[in-house]
Amino acid sequence: MRVIVVYASRYGSTREIAEFIAEKIRQHGAQAETRSVDAAPDPEDYDAVVIGSAVYMGHWMKEAVEFVRRNRTALAGRPVWLFSSGPLKLGPEIASMDDPRLEPKEIGELRKIVHPMDHRVFFGALDPEKLGGKHRTIRMLPAARAALPEGDFRNWNDIEAWAGGIARALATRPVASA
Ligand SMILES: Cc1cc2nc3c(=O)[nH]c(=O)nc-3n(C[C@H](O)[C@H](O)[C@H](O)COP(=O)(O)O)c2cc1C
Repeated sequence: MRVIVVYASRYGSTREIAEFIAEKIRQHGAQAETRSVDAAPDPEDYDAVVIGSAVYMGHWMKEAVEFVRRNRTALAGRPVWLFSSGPLKLGPEIASMDDPRLEPKEIGELRKIVHPMDHRVFFGALDPEKLGGKHRTIRMLPAARAALPEGDFRNWNDIEAWAGGIARALATRPVASA
């Protein structure tokens, strides 16, 4: 069973989530590797695909959306899991990670394209020192600063549990390609 974890990450925290997911899947006995969407991996070379993107202004990174659109045929023929790395905190209005308002705008379209086994939103991380250009300017706005606190909010226990679920689901599936 060959699994690829593909990611789009501006500042590295989503890449680290992808690497952690691949490592956990390997610990369950499958082959799993990690690639940036920019490396344009071919899903045809794998039995299952996990795709994750950082979320900016309510959107998946466009490279990640384009990866799914470009590979729609191969992805539709394989088990696919999606994850989004975004929220830094929940507010009084959004009390749960399952709240549909946390879903990036493209997830509806991506569900139709690849019929994912699951889409999960994970907490992200923000280091203001790393922010460049437009992101730095946006975060300097008082409202954005409150909504985008500095810190690493990634919940590795949640991510590990999700990766374990993927590994277990794959262990019970026939291999799609030799
Ligand atoms: C300018 C800016 C806008 C953001 N907008 C959102 C957003 O709309 N929704 C969300 O869940 N997270 C948002 N985030 C948080 C990022 O998704 C989070 O920091 C993520 O972990 C970054 O991943 P990366 O390090 O892989 O780029 C934003 C962060 C910044 C700096």
